[in-house]
Amino acid sequence: MTAPTLPGHPFIAYHDGALRVEGVRLAQLANEFGTPLFVYSKASMLAALAAYQRGFAGRNAQICYAMKANSSLAVLQLFARAGCGFDIVSGGELQRVIAAGGEPARVIFSGVGKTAAEMRQALQAGIGCFNVESEAELEVLSGVATAMGLRAPVSIRVNPNVDPQTHPYISTGLKGNKFGVAHERTLATYQRAAALPGLRVIGIDCHIGSQITQEAPYLDAMERVLDLVEAVEAAGIALEHIDFGGGLGIEYQRTDTPPPADGLWARLLARLDARGFGQRKLMIEPGRSLVGNAGLCVTEVLYLKPGEQKNFCIVDAAMNDLPRPAMYQAFHAIVPVQPRANAPVSPYEVVGPVCESGDWIGHDRDLAVQPGDRLAVLSAGAYCMSMASNYNTRGRAAEVLVDGDRTTLIRRRETIEDQLRCEQPLG
Ligand code: LLP
Repeated sequence: MTAPTLPGHPFIAYHDGALRVEGVRLAQLANEFGTPLFVYSKASMLAALAAYQRGFAGRNAQICYAMKANSSLAVLQLFARAGCGFDIVSGGELQRVIAAGGEPARVIFSGVGKTAAEMRQALQAGIGCFNVESEAELEVLSGVATAMGLRAPVSIRVNPNVDPQTHPYISTGLKGNKFGVAHERTLATYQRAAALPGLRVIGIDCHIGSQITQEAPYLDAMERVLDLVEAVEAAGIALEHIDFGGGLGIEYQRTDTPPPADGLWARLLARLDARGFGQRKLMIEPGRSLVGNAGLCVTEVLYLKPGEQKNFCIVDAAMNDLPRPAMYQAFHAIVPVQPRANAPVSPYEVVGPVCESGDWIGHDRDLAVQPGDRLAVLSAGAYCMSMASNYNTRGRAAEVLVDGDRTTLIRRRETIEDQLRCEQPLG
């Protein structure tokens, strides 16, 4: 039986009745490495990056991968070698970039709560820019830099107050959010930054949210940011770069129809050109759209539990491995690794072993499964492993990178010794 390619997943497909990532059968990987197991396609990540690179061809642009989406070292290495910079939000992420061979000069540091120690660490490393999110942060950063005899390169994250029309937990550019400096305060904040001795103003940035599937919020945000650029520059403060953040969505299901990155940027660049900013240095911070559909999680069916109202399919992956359904009511497609030919399907609640009713992975999924079967939870390359926890003292899953028919274990399964290492029992 040959099923069609899965939508949104050009490198994940059925061949002769078996699901493969690129040239590798998932059943074989599950046998070799156990489950739950994250599997990533290198070609898929590079293809997603290529869409952005095409979109920016001929421009002065820097793509900074928002590594919070998936911060595994091998993934960072792929993007570093492909010429990406990185958008980081902690000192730990900076250390990962350096460990992966990324260039600190291409790192931008976002986040509302940078500590003075993280600022020192980033200044020492020589990062490219601090995306500052408040006036209070400007003061602290200036003090830290001055004490080191340096001037910190800064951009101010502005909150353009546009609705990205996404889940409230992942929308960040509205007035009520904790992120960025309010539109009305922007000019005054830039004036303060320009007056502080330890800072060097170099840019402006915004990020309006995540899993955005429409162009309109980007276009609206761009107009508002360009208005601010004009106002700030009219006040005599030059801005070398404009950073439009990340946020482009992916196809989790057929109803998600985000524009392709190159198409979106063709439209945005046309607006930038029309307003005379087309030659300015541009930065973006994509995360999910580079890795989300490049990964999946293989899980094994442990038990089937028929019920009066619902049938449960209990699998060995759980909310600690795949937190997005529990946190955002997110949909991830769930497909069989080796479909059973002509077997009747039943609707199942696909749930994990964690002791919480919120530990579900999929509601009402039509599956033909038996205990021991493997399922693949799709679109699991972003915000899954990087958000995984040890809840219920579950070890975090292993990760494998597939490149053609080659497989590399990029993270071994976490052991109980790993988990206990930081703890000190009472004497
Ligand atoms: N830049 C900044 C400043 C951000 O805060 C984020 C994501 C990004 C870039 C990358 O956004 P992306 O291209 O991945 O949409 N855990 C949630 C998503 C949280 C996003 C947080 N910020 C989820 O699983 O849906």
